Amino acid sequence: ASEAKASVSRFAFTPIPTHTDSTVHVPEGYNWKILTSWGDPLIEGAEAFNDETGGSAASSDKVFGENTDGMENFVYQGKQLLAINHEFATRKLNLPLNEEGIPKSAEDVLKLQNLQGASVIEVEDSENGWQIVKGSRFNRRITHNTPMKLAGPAVGHPLMQTAADPAGVQSLGTFNNCGSGKTPWGTYLTCEENFNGYFGETDAAPVARLDGVDAGYKRYGLSKDGWGYEYHKFDERFDTAKNPNEPHRMGWIVEIDPTDPTSTPVKHTALGRFKHENAEAVLAPDRRVVVYMGDDERGEFMYRFVSNGVYTPGQSTDGLLDDGILYVAKFNDDLTGEWLPLTPQSTGMDAAEILIFSRLAGSAVGATTMDRPEWISTNPNEVEAYCCLTNNKNRGVKPNAGGDDTSVNGPNPRETNNYGQIVRWRPHNEDHASDTFDWDLYVMAGNPTVHDGPNAGSDNIHAGNMFNSPDGMAFDENGLVWIQTDGNDSNEGDFAGMGNNQMLVGDPVSGEIARFMTGPNGCEVTGLTWSADRRSMFVGIQHPGGNWPDGGKLPRSSVIVIKRDDDGVIG
Ligand code: FEO
Ligand code: CA
Ligand code: CA
Ligand code: CA
Repeated sequence: ASEAKASVSRFAFTPIPTHTDSTVHVPEGYNWKILTSWGDPLIEGAEAFNDETGGSAASSDKVFGENTDGMENFVYQGKQLLAINHEFATRKLNLPLNEEGIPKSAEDVLKLQNLQGASVIEVEDSENGWQIVKGSRFNRRITHNTPMKLAGPAVGHPLMQTAADPAGVQSLGTFNNCGSGKTPWGTYLTCEENFNGYFGETDAAPVARLDGVDAGYKRYGLSKDGWGYEYHKFDERFDTAKNPNEPHRMGWIVEIDPTDPTSTPVKHTALGRFKHENAEAVLAPDRRVVVYMGDDERGEFMYRFVSNGVYTPGQSTDGLLDDGILYVAKFNDDLTGEWLPLTPQSTGMDAAEILIFSRLAGSAVGATTMDRPEWISTNPNEVEAYCCLTNNKNRGVKPNAGGDDTSVNGPNPRETNNYGQIVRWRPHNEDHASDTFDWDLYVMAGNPTVHDGPNAGSDNIHAGNMFNSPDGMAFDENGLVWIQTDGNDSNEGDFAGMGNNQMLVGDPVSGEIARFMTGPNGCEVTGLTWSADRRSMFVGIQHPGGNWPDGGKLPRSSVIVIKRDDDGVIG
């Protein structure tokens, strides 16, 4: 702690206190505005937002979707294109006239399907601040029904075949799009997380299942009733009695070209199937593409893909993300670690099964069970990467769904981990494609005002910067790391003094961490990108409570823009 305090702060703001109210707070000298909210019209023919009904089904694929999450900015022909995820639909808000928001018709289901997925919007800074460019040809909605191409080694495998797509080569829609990434060639990576919740099983005569399907359902959390979306009752694609392989076509990393509104998104099976958080793509010194990925479930793993081919600017990138090796992380207690390749030799599974059931492959090689790996980000100034391990109430309590041991281990050192931590690793030889690394914990969140010992947190946590459940994370170009939280905002007990969910910024060198923003109560803060000139920061406010931001009947997840009053660069 003394070392952190002795250094000169690199932060260009005075840290703010916690808040427990229903608005956004930023430091003195900064301001914020809404860019866009759930239900805002995007595409020709869209109706204005209606907070009695949550909008019509007919208009639902023409408006900004709900529950904004990962986002990236793409500069193309002088225009700025934001690609933004819509992770899930809060049923009670999207179907406010239905009891408990339970869908009662195919139309209700279609509306939910349309309000999730992703959006591409062209934005510009005008006299009235940042706005969506109305009528831009780039504005696009991608939903649970948008045609996608399947690519990579799992394509065509019997586990990928369905009645509607007997060849197993194309699928409809992208699901539970949580974190995001950006390729070196300027495309968007959207990451499918809790896809299991959309499926259920009716009492239709069951179609025979291939070997391994039931074990896969168990490991990935497929259930007969699903999570209340009721898709399976009105859209048989989601009825696992009739379409047992449909869930295998979700849980992937999807590449979208935001510069071509007619392009077909591609699901890259070589990057594995699990509950993806984000996808952090970086180049190795030899220009192979390295993609780091977390699997956000208690006791699941961290992964890395390394391409066989190399990226050469100006040349085709077709197939680059479809040919390579998927690895899983093993952390040793002596602060070293290694990437274990998932191959037929190491796992006893065939090449496609390794990808479709990556979790089972990870268990087979003895990967380290983690405390819910969320976003991974790489430092632009150093060859190092950080991963938010958000929390894990099951650590040391019960094994993961595959029966793997979850006793405390090196980077996951606390039982019933309420607070979360950020692990950092430095690949050997300054090469993200190296198979070995050294690791340490950048921060252990905690509460030094109510605990002594490990639950007080690491030395860089004090009463003035407490938080829990780090989730979103992104480095800026100066090498500061921005940390967003999705945790307990009760502000009591173990969480007393932490207030609402928030965004902090960390100095990787000194360890200093300071609070930059707090969100309205009930929300999580997730998704972060910058304008091309870095004078504006776009931040996602997901599932706010109350009636934020416009005081209407329904709270609306929104993207906000933060600027400095003097219009200086942020970060
Ligand atoms: Fe959708 Fe793991 O957060
Ligand atoms: Ca997240
Ligand atoms: Ca989370
Ligand atoms: Ca979320």
